[in-house]
Amino acid sequence: MARSASQFICQSCGGVHRRWAGKCDHCGAWNSIVEETGATAAPVGGAKAASVRRNRSRGPGLELEPLKGGTPPRPRIATGIAELDRALGGGLVQGGAILVGGDPGIGKSTLLLQAMGGVANAGHAVIYVSGEEGVDQIRGRAERLGLADAPVALAAATSADAAAATIQSTPNLKLIVIDSIQTMYVEGVESAPGSVSQVRASAQILIAAAKRSEAALVLVGHVTKDGAIAGPRVLEHMVDAVLYFEGDSSQHYRILRAVKNRFGPADALGVFEMTGAGLREVPNPSTLFLSERQGREPVTGAAVFAGFRGARPLLVEVQALVGAPGPGSPRRAVVGWDSARLAMALAVLESRAGLPFSGRDVFLSVAGGLRLEEPAADLAAAAALISALLERPAPMDCVFFGELALSGEARPTPQTEARLTEAVRLGFARAAGPGDARVKGLKSEPIRRIDDLVTLIAAEPLLPAPKPADWD
Ligand code: TYD
Ligand code: MG
Repeated sequence: MARSASQFICQSCGGVHRRWAGKCDHCGAWNSIVEETGATAAPVGGAKAASVRRNRSRGPGLELEPLKGGTPPRPRIATGIAELDRALGGGLVQGGAILVGGDPGIGKSTLLLQAMGGVANAGHAVIYVSGEEGVDQIRGRAERLGLADAPVALAAATSADAAAATIQSTPNLKLIVIDSIQTMYVEGVESAPGSVSQVRASAQILIAAAKRSEAALVLVGHVTKDGAIAGPRVLEHMVDAVLYFEGDSSQHYRILRAVKNRFGPADALGVFEMTGAGLREVPNPSTLFLSERQGREPVTGAAVFAGFRGARPLLVEVQALVGAPGPGSPRRAVVGWDSARLAMALAVLESRAGLPFSGRDVFLSVAGGLRLEEPAADLAAAAALISALLERPAPMDCVFFGELALSGEARPTPQTEARLTEAVRLGFARAAGPGDARVKGLKSEPIRRIDDLVTLIAAEPLLPAPKPADWD
């Protein structure tokens, strides 16, 4: 008999609890625990099959293989969208499962329809299963994207069993997209579509079917902040690659970020622009992230970071705003950077360079909705902060890079040459960072300690911010 005891499952991380609680012990999410009934933990095949398997400990053992041995790399299918192929580490892997997560409305369906169009137009069998939109809606979008004639087979369906059966019965299937995994359900699992049990069970049978058929499987997953729907986090360990599609919905560009990839580099990044005719690739993202600077008068609190993301250099502006000292506890807010790193940078600037940040509000933001993960961003953030505090613009023709140690020393960063080459390509004349890496056409401003950075910015002309009193 199927096990029908209740379990309390965190909808955010999938953690199992014996009783309901307000907060999940596993991931710390609040109000995310929901009672689920049904054969939730039973492996595919049902509880009966599982109990038969449990009672049978004899039989042939495992077939073991030597570590040494050659396995040919799994064949890849290019989607024709270079930025997507790059984020995947060179195209879709046959038999591999990929999760594409992102906020609703960010453009996941659009991106995948464009990818499916590319694969189908190259002569491969492609299936699109949508549990969110009707066939007419999908056709309408395909028309807008100029893909009305692409030979993509459509199904508006929500049964994961039926989708898995279709994968098995379609000869030479190369790609199947399930949009979204939260709408899929498996017969026999009692909880509602979108619950952790259903999302997991659906993913499990689809992944197994794709592996057997050698088709690439793409699961679309919505990320929601309130935890009401099972987040893609519960699927991350089941799939081979996880891509997140991000961006500010008020802005036009979107970033596709690989956070896990069994078949390629893990921190790959693709950049797109949402246009009236779908997503357009942005082959030179630095140009995009710096476009605001073109023709701009010098401003305080802005510094360009010579970054490195996903095996390629990426220049991006870091912006800071520092308030006047006031009573009460100061506000500190960060967008696109780690707040602990901001606290550390401020402490170093205060203790090692004597800059008075305490008691002042400090805001730090990374242009374009990008998130900086590299420690090498420290010096660029510090440059923006120093510039905002001293009311002097950071030199406009200079890029910044390097990690900041608590001692106030600048630490070297990897890939310096690639960072600097990109800076020269985009017209910068100077680079402030640790070490003496030289690239033709770029003057080195060596930063050994944080004081060197303060000296560099203090040499710029004063550019006081307008005071409220100046307004009338
Ligand atoms: P969609 O792919 O439906 O998002 P998701 O699947 O992640 O929920 O994209 C929805 C948004 O994209 C919607 O606001 C309209 C916009 N869009 C364009 O701007 N241009 C286009 O060509 C298309 C198809 C969509
Ligand atoms: Mg969609």
